[in-house]
Amino acid sequence: MSSRVSTGVKGIDEMLKGGFLPNRAILLRGGPGTGKTIFSLQYLIEGAKKGEMGLYVTLEEPVDSVRKTATSLNLDLEKYEKEKLIGIFDGSRMVYKFGEERRGIDAQRPVISNTIDQLQILVTSSGANRLVIDSITSAIIHQRFPTDKRLEVLELMKGLRKMNCNSLITSESASPAEDEFFVEEYLADGVIILSNSHRNFAVTKTVWIEKMRGLKHDDQPRKYEISDSGIIVYASEPVTA
Ligand SMILES: Nc1ncnc2c1ncn2[C@@H]1O[C@H](COP(=O)(O)OP(=O)(O)OP(=O)(O)O)[C@@H](O)[C@H]1O
Ligand SMILES: [Mg+2]
Repeated sequence: MSSRVSTGVKGIDEMLKGGFLPNRAILLRGGPGTGKTIFSLQYLIEGAKKGEMGLYVTLEEPVDSVRKTATSLNLDLEKYEKEKLIGIFDGSRMVYKFGEERRGIDAQRPVISNTIDQLQILVTSSGANRLVIDSITSAIIHQRFPTDKRLEVLELMKGLRKMNCNSLITSESASPAEDEFFVEEYLADGVIILSNSHRNFAVTKTVWIEKMRGLKHDDQPRKYEISDSGIIVYASEPVTA
């Protein structure tokens, strides 16, 4: 199955019957603390183990905090950073800059379009085969109108596909409000949803592959846990109440 991109989370590979298809832009959506950053790190480390270069662009969480998460889970992030197999790039200024530009002459320019060229340079110069953008929410939240948000995300997806790498983009929503829809889910090649559900004073974490273009995959939600060694998905067990 060399044509598949292993995700670094064993149970997800099982649900995908091997992994992602290459050169796709996959969206990982989930509420706070559902494990988006941990998944992203496992994804890059999986590549690094095989000698593939990975680039992690954080748009919100400080780089030190991401490193601490990796350390607490005994993930070899530091080792692969030293070996230059994983690069961490603080992209929060890209978003920040937009805030400044809104007050200036570039007020109408959307933030993602401003950053695609920079991302392209980063990916090309690092030779990254795997790219993580964690998360795009603050980068698209500025768009007041759904059409603008859609064009923005569309431009990002197009840009990512041209980069010829395996992209994982996180977004931060637990569930859409009634009158809201997530354009990023329509435009991504695949969508994985992580969620926390509360019932009878107990919390259950479930993962669901909402879509994965071109692949037959498990379409049922599965339970998962965040353990000391990362995300564990119970891929062959049905979710029960
Ligand atoms: N060493 C660890 N052992 C077990 N669980 C951990 C460990 N470190 C973190 N966690 C769990 O993982 C959660 C955070 O995971 P992560 O940072 O990936 O979430 P996230 O979805 O990226 O959150 P956010 O929306 O805040 O960015 C913590 O809230 C905690 O429940
Ligand atoms: Mg996070």
